[in-house]
Amino acid sequence: MDLKIALLSGDGIGPEVMEQAVKALQAIEENFGHNFSYKEAVVGAIAIDKFDDPLPEKTLALCKEADAILFGAIGDPKYDNDPSAKIRPEQGLLRLRKELGLFANIRPIKTFPTLVDNSPLKKEIISGTDFTIYRELTGGIYFGEKKINDNGTVASDLCEYSQKEISRIAHLAFKAAKNRNNKLTLVDKANVLESSRLWRKVVSKIGESYPEVTLHYLFVDNAAMQLILNPSQFDVILTENMFGDILSDEGSVIGGSIGLLASASIGEDNALFEPIHGSYPQAKGGNIANPVASILSAAMLLEHFSLYEEAMVVREAVDKSLEKGIVTPDLHAGSKYGTSHVGDFIADRIVENHDDLNMNDENIGLGKSTII
Ligand code: IPM
Ligand code: MG
Repeated sequence: MDLKIALLSGDGIGPEVMEQAVKALQAIEENFGHNFSYKEAVVGAIAIDKFDDPLPEKTLALCKEADAILFGAIGDPKYDNDPSAKIRPEQGLLRLRKELGLFANIRPIKTFPTLVDNSPLKKEIISGTDFTIYRELTGGIYFGEKKINDNGTVASDLCEYSQKEISRIAHLAFKAAKNRNNKLTLVDKANVLESSRLWRKVVSKIGESYPEVTLHYLFVDNAAMQLILNPSQFDVILTENMFGDILSDEGSVIGGSIGLLASASIGEDNALFEPIHGSYPQAKGGNIANPVASILSAAMLLEHFSLYEEAMVVREAVDKSLEKGIVTPDLHAGSKYGTSHVGDFIADRIVENHDDLNMNDENIGLGKSTII
């Protein structure tokens, strides 16, 4: 298959983890005879530094003409502590989502059997957890009207949803539940918010056309509790933009590291794949960031184009790295493996793709990988 992939590595650790995801994709190309082309563009703080714009026109144009976008991370502390900053790196990602109509953000959360001891939660609680969050991504409080009064003492953000915005993602979530375990949980705050009541009305109506899927409703405060009390009860969670943002970070605790979580943002004509983690500026350039989330985002990209076997090979290689302890320090304190070592191991494993690689740990430690 030929694919044009736009690479937006962004800020902080973005470029480092992105490099590993590209290695994995190149290994897939080599293994399966595909032909992917990669073009880079800037976004976020680095784009503000260069062009005074977190999403330059050129970047947007490249994304529009690409088949898929691979995204690194966005954000820089120099903007976080300056509430008066007019231009912020995050605006680049938000505008990209809006301009490309990436309304469905899909965030799978799963425990890796080899990592159950990594989570701060008890093994008995998290074992067997496997659910996916469908987060609405282009509406709600993120994009509603923002106001601040003249003397800067009163501010508001409007949370607005239309029936159309709710129903298009609801259909995707119901379909996903149908292909999984037939359970969909709508998370909202319908006891307080009018917008949540609209979500309930629209989603329950759509539910009638998916009779095999059982629809549950959960208030977001209770959902936040259930997620760490009994996460294996969930199959597909459907929710609005901000609740999904918050719950997906909470969900990352289950797997033991946010460095493991991938996501896909899907629209009608475009698709973007990105790790859930942020730009982790303290680790920038340190070769310690976990590249797994980025590599698994590349696996989701492959799945999006129905390259299921290829995606499976990537996932197997990731599992192998976890099993063999070829992991970054967030998963194993004091680990001697860095971002690029883990990336090399996974790419090598994809190329080899047979059961016992007899990988020489010493060579990996020295970065002497067979493919780069
Ligand atoms: C995410 C991030 C973004 C969001 C930020 C960087 C704007 O937290 O993708 O979850 O809030 O959506
Ligand atoms: Mg977030």
